[in-house]
Amino acid sequence: MKYLSIQEAMDKGKGEVNIRGWVYRERGSSKIKFIVLRDSTNIIQCVIAKQDVGEKKFAIADKVQVETSMTLTGEIKKDDRAPTGYEILVKDFEVIGESDKYPITKDQSVEFLADKRHLWLRSRKMTAVMKVRSTVFGAIDEYFKKEGFYEYHSPIFQSVQCEGGSTLFEVKYFDKKDVFLAQTWQLYAEPAIFALEKIYTIAPSFRAEKSKTSRHLTEYWHAEMEVAWATFEDIQNYGEALIKHIVKSVLEKNKAELELLGRDVKKLSPVVKKPFIRMTYDEALKILKEKCKMDVEWGKDLRTIEEDKISKLYDVPLIITNYPKKVKAFYMKEDSENPEVVHGFDCIAPEGYGEVIGGSERESDIKEIFKRLKEEGEDPKEYEFYLDTRRYGSVPHGGFGMGVERIIAWICGLDNIKDSIPFPRTMIRYKP
Ligand code: 4AD
Ligand code: MG
Repeated sequence: MKYLSIQEAMDKGKGEVNIRGWVYRERGSSKIKFIVLRDSTNIIQCVIAKQDVGEKKFAIADKVQVETSMTLTGEIKKDDRAPTGYEILVKDFEVIGESDKYPITKDQSVEFLADKRHLWLRSRKMTAVMKVRSTVFGAIDEYFKKEGFYEYHSPIFQSVQCEGGSTLFEVKYFDKKDVFLAQTWQLYAEPAIFALEKIYTIAPSFRAEKSKTSRHLTEYWHAEMEVAWATFEDIQNYGEALIKHIVKSVLEKNKAELELLGRDVKKLSPVVKKPFIRMTYDEALKILKEKCKMDVEWGKDLRTIEEDKISKLYDVPLIITNYPKKVKAFYMKEDSENPEVVHGFDCIAPEGYGEVIGGSERESDIKEIFKRLKEEGEDPKEYEFYLDTRRYGSVPHGGFGMGVERIIAWICGLDNIKDSIPFPRTMIRYKP
């Protein structure tokens, strides 16, 4: 038997079709049963009449519960009253897997749905988000491959920190101490640009974030790139082009999903068409003061609330450059004109979705790196493998990391980053 997906059956629009899926909704009377069937592509109303299938079969249909899996054969036709505009008049059907009483019904708490995450994945909302997610991952790959990057892989077990000790996860690694989960691939990526020059990855990163915000996960997917011979501006340009490519791909491939999620696509189209806003940290402070009535003392990092306020002034992402050295990581290159600031940038998504990319030109002066590691309380000896990158033919280079779930949450217009990943890991949630 050849089966069509529900979408294919609707595209066909008339005649006999065989489909299969899971019961999304059911209701009925003693003579007729209405089943809305769902598969990965869509939902469709199916009508089972006692007079068409006979007493015995109808008794089986009558007992069908939500999430029962079944195959069915029938005539498809247009019907404006049906939820997706088509209806199937069922001639025959088979129950494949019966379903117990499904625990997820309407109006359940966020916590309950999180406990039942393995089932909640079947919801139309999560299905739509996971489809967008699949497009985003594909688009990242596509972008970097198109730009001539090699895919390269770094270890997840690492022996040093890169983004600050406070968010490091230490692991039990036999009898060894100081083994951590990757916060970033960076220190293990920089050595590889001397072989491959342009590299990227999409891999999990781990942060022991003690913040229960709507944008922090403890395990997230990190799209990272590193390029030899690149200027600070080159790195920003790659970041902007990558985001444009991702948003363009989703707008092309996931119209139906964005609509189901209630996302206003008019808010996303400027991102593809218009250049991103770029400004220095100093300019950002000035705008925060003048337009947002927020006073940030020079030298302080921008907080979420400030990033949110300033991002809402624009309809495209905002790239803020040249942050004070003391708020940024040890590896960022000091500005040659002002040693107080570094060539690091954050790219902030519009609508208050926060920092989606963090990147920089890398410091080339080994003495400066030494000094800054010491200031951070690190033992430079542990970083010898990294420091070798500056000893043997160093070149100007840089890279960035993009939080893939933050991008997905923003594109889908989600209230919380947790819904952008199938099984979110946060400070308080690591089950199921
Ligand atoms: O700004 P971050 O810490 O930069 C780095 O890790 C660099 N080493 C990357 C590089 O240059 N290769 O992290 C990069 C991005 C952030 O902009 C944010 O989007 C995301 O990773 N991110 C998180 N996403 C979800 N949950 C968290 N706890 C995150 N922490 C960072
Ligand atoms: Mg950052």
